[in-house]
Amino acid sequence: MKNPLIFGLLLLLASPAVLATSDLTPVQLRVEYLTNPFTDERKPRLSWVLKSDRKNQYQSAYRILVASKPELLKTGKADLWDSGRIDSDQTAQVVYGGNALSSRQQCFWKVQSWDKEGQAGPWSPISTWEMGLLEPEDWQADWIGKDFVAEAAPVPFKGKELTLPPVPIFRKEVNVGQKLTKARLYITALGLFEFKINGKRVGKDYLAPGWTDYNQRVHYQAYDVTDHLNSGMQVLQARLSYGWYSGYIGYALLVGNPVVRAFYGEVPALKAQLELTYENGQTQTVATGSDWRVSSGGLLESDILHGETYDARKEPENWHLPGYDDSHWESAEPIATSERRLQLYPAQPVQVTDSLSPVSITQRPNGAYIVNLGQNIAGLIRLRVKGKAGDKIVLRFGEMLHRDGRLMVENLRMARATDTYIVKGDPDGEEWVPAFTYHGFQYVEVSGFPGTPRKENFTGLVLGSNTPKVGHFETDHPLVNQLYQNIVWTQRANFVDIPTDCPQRDERMGWTGDAQIYGGTSALNMDVAAFFTKWIQDLQDAQWESGAYPDYAPAPSVRASDTFAPGWMEAGIINPYEMYRAYGDTRIIERSWANMEKFMAFHAKRSGDRYVYPEGSFADLNPKGGYGDWLSIGKKTPPDLLATIYYGYTAQLMAEMAAAIGKSNRALHFQELAGKIKAAFASHYLEASSGKLTAKPEAYGNGAGYVDGQQGFSGHTQTAYANAIYHDFLTESQEQVAGKHLADLLEANGGKLATGFLGVKQLLPALSATGRSDLAYQLLLATEYPSWGFEIENGATTIWERWDSYVKDDPEKMESLNAGMNSFSHYAFGSVYEWMFRNMAGIQADLPGYKSFTIAPEIPENDIHRVHASLRSIHGEILSSWTRSTDSLRLDVIIPVNTRAVVWIPAVDPTAVHLDGKPLEQHADIRLGNFLEGRQAVLLGSGEYRFESILHP
Ligand code: BGC
Repeated sequence: MKNPLIFGLLLLLASPAVLATSDLTPVQLRVEYLTNPFTDERKPRLSWVLKSDRKNQYQSAYRILVASKPELLKTGKADLWDSGRIDSDQTAQVVYGGNALSSRQQCFWKVQSWDKEGQAGPWSPISTWEMGLLEPEDWQADWIGKDFVAEAAPVPFKGKELTLPPVPIFRKEVNVGQKLTKARLYITALGLFEFKINGKRVGKDYLAPGWTDYNQRVHYQAYDVTDHLNSGMQVLQARLSYGWYSGYIGYALLVGNPVVRAFYGEVPALKAQLELTYENGQTQTVATGSDWRVSSGGLLESDILHGETYDARKEPENWHLPGYDDSHWESAEPIATSERRLQLYPAQPVQVTDSLSPVSITQRPNGAYIVNLGQNIAGLIRLRVKGKAGDKIVLRFGEMLHRDGRLMVENLRMARATDTYIVKGDPDGEEWVPAFTYHGFQYVEVSGFPGTPRKENFTGLVLGSNTPKVGHFETDHPLVNQLYQNIVWTQRANFVDIPTDCPQRDERMGWTGDAQIYGGTSALNMDVAAFFTKWIQDLQDAQWESGAYPDYAPAPSVRASDTFAPGWMEAGIINPYEMYRAYGDTRIIERSWANMEKFMAFHAKRSGDRYVYPEGSFADLNPKGGYGDWLSIGKKTPPDLLATIYYGYTAQLMAEMAAAIGKSNRALHFQELAGKIKAAFASHYLEASSGKLTAKPEAYGNGAGYVDGQQGFSGHTQTAYANAIYHDFLTESQEQVAGKHLADLLEANGGKLATGFLGVKQLLPALSATGRSDLAYQLLLATEYPSWGFEIENGATTIWERWDSYVKDDPEKMESLNAGMNSFSHYAFGSVYEWMFRNMAGIQADLPGYKSFTIAPEIPENDIHRVHASLRSIHGEILSSWTRSTDSLRLDVIIPVNTRAVVWIPAVDPTAVHLDGKPLEQHADIRLGNFLEGRQAVLLGSGEYRFESILHP
């Protein structure tokens, strides 16, 4: 066929797309939650989202074609998999069912859907994925490194000494032939790597390959580097830093742990292989080995917590050019290590996701400058400077300033968080971005800058796991909008390869309590499916022999006494469950199942099969009882009461998850177990006559050894009621009484909250569930301490660890607080967004993945007149947007194709509701539900709908 146009046309005619009579179109094709990824899942899961202009549309069948070449798909041929027409409405978690896939296999795929009338829609555009290296034998590369640690001079810091050796740099020249068609780089490190080809950085990833229990598994990255290479001599370059593998971790140094760094190994190692494929089918592999050259470059110090020192004068000139004389370099040392599982990094990598310009630069009396980004972030500063050789610019990072304008670094504890650049004197100016560190900061103290620094000399680079933004929330209330922004910024600052507690101090660990509280909320802001796929594996890897899940993962104990704690260890059940709820992910349940059973067996054993934890059951932990309702105010909720609730709640989740993966016997078992725990809880902690939650405070003695034990203990607390209600521990009538007690407690407390980490998420939902949405709104809008509004009125741009981290009118307070534990970026209290989304906007998933859902906004009578919330779910965009005036309401909703929703429209009576300008009964394509408690239910298929209603007669 000579004329490609006619050929294309004929192809088009022959392809099934032409038969399409429906507009139902699959878009956003993804594999293992990622777009066109590399994966090492042998049976990856595919998903797509459906588009259609018709209302009430769903998929009745689909067909997937997977081929090794895109041309094959164009002719409708699939040499890897033709699913055939499958009658199903499934569009996510569809497991690849074709030929076995081997390493490096490229897969091209497309999908077609049939609509509810059985009419075929057009084929989707073609998407791809590529298999990584599946077998250990695929790796020819050796681990290489260079031991600079022994020679490193100790660096004094805050009365201690740091070990901060220089970073080895590696070099290898390779001759590339003509007609290269494909080049892949597979690379990992015990430590952190950066790779360049001919001076150009490969990929945009930071802190790769991420943090795992390196003794068990190490992730690697795969890059398409075809465009990096030409024919002829090419230069491969790498830098290798210490990272979590052999650098400093957490507060080990602070607490005097015997090990403070090099938890996994002393000498970092690099493993990389470049695979080239030529047009004639020939392949060539270049792998790390002792034939690579190693030296030290300009990076003299490099540590995640302590920062970097880069002397630009020391960077070898032109080492990126072929022919550079590296004869004075040494041969790379082979690093002997035990075998570990190498797996492809399963999530979006850490990258620069945004950049910020300073809002101000001010000079300090000592000559240093304070650069203010106007926003607390996690990330780096890109420095641009023109100076003379040897000028030394020191950047110190902080989240806050002291009253006198000094940078506050007390709350960084033993994190030095200092980056130093030594100028080489390039007359055109120089630019530097640190490579293997990051900081939590809003302010940068700059000293040694040549001349007067200007805003263009500094750019704030926002660093974090590049999880796609899927949520949006906006109201006509500035305080609430700021709160939402603060929540999102805090998530961005702490979803850095793992969910960290904070980004600034010597901690930054994957605290399980924080993650279980916030996991559900995080999925309303970002697509965290792949992110948690990765971290849940870290969590399983870190499970104790006893079955308990740890305080944080990954990490060995950075303090010997860190073991497990009620409300923390349950992350092992709750986070997989949140994945199931948000994305309909059952594979994560299957893969976690044995570990989760082991955990539940631990609970059974520890509770002595009494189904309840009486007071003092966790007195053997350090601190006693675990962390309890961390950072709550006033009397403490007994940790054992909370432990019992968590035990019952996880039993309930296990029942639901067992059913989801077809384990009906286990579902029954856990259902019964949950029932027994609830009964035992009621008989131990619930006073039948008054419906009050009670506990025996005497069991805790004077509280010594417990977190804030001196405050005393009581079962009658906001946190106790909020948990019992939220976790469905009470009968309907008990719940109503508990709701009253909760409301009374709030009132007795001047309308203020008193909850800490284990009560904050549940508080507002518990109020709404017991008919006191008005009080929930009151808490949301409060501006007095303690409240979210108080933080905002005091200048917060992120969510604080403490309710009173900083007080504008009383800055001394910050100084007098436990300054070492005062993070301005801690997401736990941001879990209030769960209520904002589910109750203010009213969007609640009924089936996992929002396959069906409810929209039931709680319309307040206060200063909020408009709420607009959306979520790009795994099935598509959901919207709930309402505006109210004194007596009327407008509610816009969007229901994605292939989903259904029940929408509850507040109205004075059923006739007071209009849809798209017409009374409800004039709409044939919707189904009317009941009118209940002032709300009309309407059952809807997909589409966009506008409701208007009269609220008051
Ligand atoms: C962390 C918390 C963590 C807690 C345990 C703190 O140091 O920052 O977020 O959950 O320890 O109570």
